Amino acid sequence: MSSIVLSGDVSLLKGKVIAVLGYGNQGEAQAKVLRDSGLEVIVGNVNDEYRRRAERDGFRVYDIPEAASRADVIMMLLPDEVQPSVFNDVVKAVGDRDAVIDFASGYNVAFGLIRPPDRYDVVMVAPRMIGAGILELHSKGMGYPVLIGVANDHSGRAWDYAAAIAAGVGAIGRPGGIGVKVTFKQEAFIDLLDEHTNWPLILASFMAFFDVATERYGVPPEAVLLELYASGEMAEVASRMASLGAFEQLRLHSTTSQYGQLSRAFKFYDMIRRVVEDEASQIWLGDFAREWALEQLAGRPKFNALWDAARGSDMAREEDRLFRLLGRR
Ligand code: NAI
Repeated sequence: MSSIVLSGDVSLLKGKVIAVLGYGNQGEAQAKVLRDSGLEVIVGNVNDEYRRRAERDGFRVYDIPEAASRADVIMMLLPDEVQPSVFNDVVKAVGDRDAVIDFASGYNVAFGLIRPPDRYDVVMVAPRMIGAGILELHSKGMGYPVLIGVANDHSGRAWDYAAAIAAGVGAIGRPGGIGVKVTFKQEAFIDLLDEHTNWPLILASFMAFFDVATERYGVPPEAVLLELYASGEMAEVASRMASLGAFEQLRLHSTTSQYGQLSRAFKFYDMIRRVVEDEASQIWLGDFAREWALEQLAGRPKFNALWDAARGSDMAREEDRLFRLLGRR
């Protein structure tokens, strides 16, 4: 069975009411594209600024349980940490009716924070795209990558529904669009592993680079920050990685740079692999999900302390000065 899904039959969703719960980054984008796909979309939201935005955008908006009670397809587009507390109300509102429940991330189901009843189809359409990007690509008729999964196949058609939703939200069936079948846990795992390795390694490298270059070698902090990320060159490189390939984009750099990057990448591989192995096992075993759940229960003391440490660092202070000079703040 191929794990690639390139199209979905949106007509499967015709005549059904789709409730988009949450009108934030993903909710707004997915609701608008589903509506443009000719589907009947309502929004479920608490009484806040997002609700008023959904109303201004012309959606019928209800409280979350009310929206769920009116829907055949329920899109859980609330923040992951909010979903477990809302989910029981959603289940109560849907009751014994047939329903498709869609998640944009596998996290809660994968780590047992939400246990959906067997009587529903439970699917995942997890965009690899921020909401603003979804809308921009939609305006150009372009698709984007999604990871697709099924946790419960009650109707026997859950994969078809997942593909239909992926097409309805503009991901597949358009140029640039691709769906890849994974389990909820695999989706959550690679998402977290990216967040626990690639980005923190880059941040840690920036911090260490900044301290060494400014403290030990007297390089002006502005020069260091521009070199690291403030110039925007890094964003250009990331964009070339997506269009040309991680290695092929190296040809745009000098040969001195190519030699330096490749030789050090292979030199660091073993050290980094150990970090990745360790983080991967903590994620897979659910240790991180437990750590984060406990941290939230405790009122996020460590999270707040980490933010204080980041904001209080020399790098953040110098960044603030530079960005004010450049009119970015
Ligand atoms: P968000 O943070 O933009 O969600 C805002 C919405 O949540 C608003 O409608 C707000 O009214 C509602 N909300 C906030 N607190 C609430 C509470 N206590 N009770 C009820 N409603 C509350 O969420 P985002 O980023 O769109 O994430 C939604 C889902 O999409 C998550 O599962 C996330 O993992 C997934 N996802 C997000 C991506 C992104 O671009 N941000 C990319 C891919 C997946």
